[in-house]
Amino acid sequence: MKHTIRLISLLLIILSCKDNVKHDYQKDIDYGVAQVRQTLSVLPEDPPNIPRNITEDNETWRYVTYQDWTSGFWPGLLWYAYEATGDEMLREAADRFTLQLRPLSHEPVIDHDLGFQVFNSFGNGYRLMQDESYKPIILASADSLATLYNPAVGTILSWPRSVPGMEWPQHNTIIDNMINLELLFWASKNGGADSLYDIAVKHAETTMANHFRDDFTSYHVVIYDKDNGRRMKRVTHQGNADESMWARGQAWAIYGYTMVYRETKDPKFLDFVQRVTDTYIDRLPEDRVPFWDFDDPDIPDAPRDASAAAIVASALLELCTFVDQPEKAVYRETAIAMLKSLSTHYHAGSVGKTALLQHVTGHKPNGTEINTSINYGDYYYLEALFRLKKLEG
Ligand code: GLY
Repeated sequence: MKHTIRLISLLLIILSCKDNVKHDYQKDIDYGVAQVRQTLSVLPEDPPNIPRNITEDNETWRYVTYQDWTSGFWPGLLWYAYEATGDEMLREAADRFTLQLRPLSHEPVIDHDLGFQVFNSFGNGYRLMQDESYKPIILASADSLATLYNPAVGTILSWPRSVPGMEWPQHNTIIDNMINLELLFWASKNGGADSLYDIAVKHAETTMANHFRDDFTSYHVVIYDKDNGRRMKRVTHQGNADESMWARGQAWAIYGYTMVYRETKDPKFLDFVQRVTDTYIDRLPEDRVPFWDFDDPDIPDAPRDASAAAIVASALLELCTFVDQPEKAVYRETAIAMLKSLSTHYHAGSVGKTALLQHVTGHKPNGTEINTSINYGDYYYLEALFRLKKLEG
């Protein structure tokens, strides 16, 4: 009965977005590449010169160094722009910014974001160029990330330091950590230890068991006893409340479990990610770009998070390849509707900025990066457009 209701609601979504079946993704890829070129033309020569955000009242980028958690998205964007054009100037820039991140592979790991940083930069570069000098850097980074794994808990430690409310030195894991597992899966298939695969799978299983409410919405942070793995508490850091659905957290879960299913082909992950996805799709506003937190009492006046829309659109364009109809059509067409909405109302170029997207919300409880452009929104947007192009290709 529950399954039938879910299918009917999914079919209603298909019917409501039947006009969205086609999308001029090439126009948006061209727009994205043009924005990347413009950004590249204004960057300072020396670090900090990795563009992170353009805040609401600014027209220029704020720059960071390779140590910032977002440092891999800019080289990743450059790799996608190179993939789109074959332009040697973009390849050279992608390589140059990627190499800035090299120290991460041998410096002591400062948190789980190593996966985001190294896989989006060196990982994309290796995928496109097969440059063998990149491989040991990716492998060493995977080994470094794995040092944060705690076998008593069964997850990677996200923040190895004191963060307010996180009970340090107990063990914290945030839902964002799911994305970093891709680095471990890749390494285990490319000359790294088999144990990296086992760590990634165990992390995904432990998170599946502890990080979700009965309605498949995600908590942001789970604190575990570092010695016996007992779950101590579940809280938020970047969401509206401990029990709310923070949009980007749910997006990381959708993207992460889709990738884990790709890597393991274990049906329990596919079943799970569909439930996590359906709860998100069911609660989206009409334009399919979420408010930064689905439970913010200020909705409809709350800020949006266009990055969550981009992350989910990209994930759905992969998820739709793993399922049969009618889910296949639902995920694909919902992703297209998201991309159309981003294209129509969320382009930063429309307000004269050189980022791809605007209206991204980074850390609302902190009062930072609200209604901004941020490099990870741009990265997943271009990735999603590429995935659509490949699907339709
Ligand atoms: N990983 C941090 C964030 O999503 O903002």
